[in-house]
Amino acid sequence: MSLWGGRFQDGSSAMFRRVNDSFPFDRVLASQDIRGSIVWSRAICKAGVLSKDEQQQLESALNALLVKADAGELDFDASTEEDIHSFVEATLIEQLGDVARKLHTGRSRNDQVATDFRLWCREHVDLLTQDLELVIRSLLNTAKANQEVILPGYTHLQRAQPVRYPHWCLAYVEMFKRDLSRLRDLKARLNQCPLGSGALAGTVYPIDRQEIAEQLGFASPCLNSLDAVSDRDYVLETLFAASTSMMHLSRMAEDLIFFNTGEAGFITLGDQVTSGSSLMPQKKNPDALELIRGKCGRVFGSLQAMLVTMKGLPLAYNKDMQEDKEGLFDAMTQWHICLCIASEVVDTIKLDAQRCAKAAREGYANATELADYLVGKGIPFRTAHDISGQVVLGALAQKKAIEELSLDELKKYSDLIEDDVYGILQLEYLVNKRCILGGTGAEPVAKALDAALAQFAVK
Ligand code: ARG
Repeated sequence: MSLWGGRFQDGSSAMFRRVNDSFPFDRVLASQDIRGSIVWSRAICKAGVLSKDEQQQLESALNALLVKADAGELDFDASTEEDIHSFVEATLIEQLGDVARKLHTGRSRNDQVATDFRLWCREHVDLLTQDLELVIRSLLNTAKANQEVILPGYTHLQRAQPVRYPHWCLAYVEMFKRDLSRLRDLKARLNQCPLGSGALAGTVYPIDRQEIAEQLGFASPCLNSLDAVSDRDYVLETLFAASTSMMHLSRMAEDLIFFNTGEAGFITLGDQVTSGSSLMPQKKNPDALELIRGKCGRVFGSLQAMLVTMKGLPLAYNKDMQEDKEGLFDAMTQWHICLCIASEVVDTIKLDAQRCAKAAREGYANATELADYLVGKGIPFRTAHDISGQVVLGALAQKKAIEELSLDELKKYSDLIEDDVYGILQLEYLVNKRCILGGTGAEPVAKALDAALAQFAVK
């Protein structure tokens, strides 16, 4: 059933249908479209367009459809409808006849689709919020189980200073907490209801937009009809939130891929989330993590695509906007999958505490400590930095660690160096010295971990 056939003499070409129809992908909005229609039927009943009896007929037919939609039992494949809106309307007309032909009074697919899509976004923002909390909990669990593990911290992928493993975990927890707050923020802007804005100019029927918004769970109605039907900021914001979070996931994946290499050997990953090679029997590859990294491409691509689609569109609705859906559907699906698999991967992490500590001890990660030691003896930091650098150079030449040099050897660089230097060069000592707020010392890390465990109710 076409929603607009009256002024046309010829039918659409097959290729036009192919470019124009959105039913193949917007059918996932069935539940939202039906719920919007139920509320609309009540609104136009109150406005005197439908009798109470007509409204009841519509509402019970729509409710029956909703049950089917939510159970995934709507027969989409038998339909040749243009979009989900015409599908729902045609299904109702088939069942109820003329009563159903009244449902679209005062409404346009423009405010209808904007409402459906906002509802879909809002529901998925809630779903992704749960997914983010899942990853956070996994990180907190592995942090809690491995509180004493120290591993090298890197800059430029060169060993820089040792850090506690929970400190590394909590760094990603901070990122995912920001992703959560991004979803909270955007939800407030997304949570406005376009229904009642008509095609672009509002509707002539005296409907109560406040009540419609409330019934659909929106915080308020959109305030300008032109904006309401043509705004897709919420799509962009959601894609940006997805992209930023995927970037965080990808960085975490990259760290873990490196930790899992034969060369680093800090962690091993479970068989459940890795795969083998068809040729090389010894291989166990971190595919899940690589795919998290890889899927960033399509998610970032959807954000870029939507920005380009919206740029330069005149007010109000243009069919270009139908392109808003596939990218967001895909991005949210990939983000969901990546968060869930990231949580599973983190749950399988087994740390090799010895290898972590050994690597943290190597690579002269205590050179800064030596400089700070000299500062303690009254040497200006810049000079101390230089002396410590020379010690590293000398130790490197002998293929030794700083603490493996004898006191006599060390004294050649500065006669202020005494026997007490060996204590401060120890791994635990130099990690725990960083006990400032936000630092990697045992105390601030334990505090941060406790706070996060309480915030996310991890037992
Ligand atoms: N399928 C369309 C979309 O997703 C619905 C809106 C169509 N409106 C119109 N005036 N052609 O954007």
